[in-house]
Amino acid sequence: MAEASILDAFKNKVVEKIERDLTKKVKVGIIGTGWIAEAHVKAYQKCPDVEIVALADLIPGKAEAFCERYNVGKVAFFKNHKELVDSGLCDAVSVCTYNATHAECTIYALEHGLSVLLEKPMCVTTEEAVAICRADKASKGVLSIGFQPRFDENMKMLKRIVQSGELGKIYYIQTGGGRRRGIPTPFGTSFIQKETAGIGALGDIGCYSLDMVLNSIGYPKPLTVSGYKSDFFGKDPAYEHHDVFSVDDFAAGFIRLEGGIILDFRIAWAMNLDTPGDTIFMGTKGSVRVPSTECWNGSIGGPLVIYHEIAGEQIETVIPKKRMDEDCFDIKIRSFIDAVKGNGEPPVPSSQILYNQAIIDGIARSAELGHEIEIELPEI
Ligand SMILES: NC(=O)c1ccc[n+]([C@@H]2O[C@H](COP(=O)([O-])OP(=O)(O)OC[C@H]3O[C@@H](n4cnc5c(N)ncnc54)[C@H](O)[C@@H]3O)[C@@H](O)[C@H]2O)c1
Repeated sequence: MAEASILDAFKNKVVEKIERDLTKKVKVGIIGTGWIAEAHVKAYQKCPDVEIVALADLIPGKAEAFCERYNVGKVAFFKNHKELVDSGLCDAVSVCTYNATHAECTIYALEHGLSVLLEKPMCVTTEEAVAICRADKASKGVLSIGFQPRFDENMKMLKRIVQSGELGKIYYIQTGGGRRRGIPTPFGTSFIQKETAGIGALGDIGCYSLDMVLNSIGYPKPLTVSGYKSDFFGKDPAYEHHDVFSVDDFAAGFIRLEGGIILDFRIAWAMNLDTPGDTIFMGTKGSVRVPSTECWNGSIGGPLVIYHEIAGEQIETVIPKKRMDEDCFDIKIRSFIDAVKGNGEPPVPSSQILYNQAIIDGIARSAELGHEIEIELPEI
């Protein structure tokens, strides 16, 4: 194929413009008013067809203080997710709770016919993920999982490159990311305690790396996993929260995917290294390198590079990084609201993220057992 037609294969598809009826309002509730709830509220406030009507948090007074701090306006306050859902005030909710309560809040809202935007990671265990998918299937509400890096034009470009066929058959993928020192304790210790987080770096930022590569190759089923996890940095007596740290700060996995693809994964909240490696897709006709970032949060660190052969020459094609005019978080919220209003599918469906969660949980379980395990998923 000539070089011009190769580049044609990666061009943007024409995006159909959505006709929005802005007079039809969606009434939204926020479950969990911690750190990430702020980003949800700010993005909803940019949607003229959204009214935030309710806030809930387990900690007395937290939702009220949040409301005042972020000028949320006149809303009803509730002590937990059940009271908020039972109030009947909302059409949709954002589940912004810590990981350990993602499943119960999401399932309860879906069972009561509400639509749900659920923060990442989807939950903690595979069993919870299966239960969420079943509730999603049975509900009249829509469910989308909060992976905002999906909406980055560079991420979409990566997917188009992989799907174009130019790389031939993809047989090996390396992914992951890391932070030299980046154990997240922004407003407390909910990320590092087993009772609230369930999983550490593996779920928190590992889910982004997995979504980047699995979404690019069309989310094939995971078959087997050999996993490892450790907590050397979190448990180091020199670390200020070592006494409560009870999750992983590093994890790695070797995963066999349907279609004969090998996935090699590693993720770190803390390490003595700048990066545990770029993401690479190796194909029979070409490979692509996705540069990592210094402080991994799921974004693409620089221009993508394709390594291939053209007319017998070994060529590197550099795809310059696209600038984003709109914030990915705002697009995540807008596209969820569009799906709630019947304009399009949920942007990040639970049926895909089930496989993401099964790998995360598979790594955790394999690490605990000390050997490779098979991933078995029931019919949804
Ligand atoms: N998409 C992103 O960029 C991004 C960034 C940060 C965090 N997150 C995710 O968002 C989630 C929340 O993170 P955070 O930093 O805001 O946590 P946080 O601990 O600051 O806030 C969570 C809040 O949820 C409340 N809560 C828990 N269960 C509840 C229930 N049943 N009903 C009502 N309230 C309940 C807690 O009391 C707490 O105030 C995590 O799963 C995290 O992975 C996503």
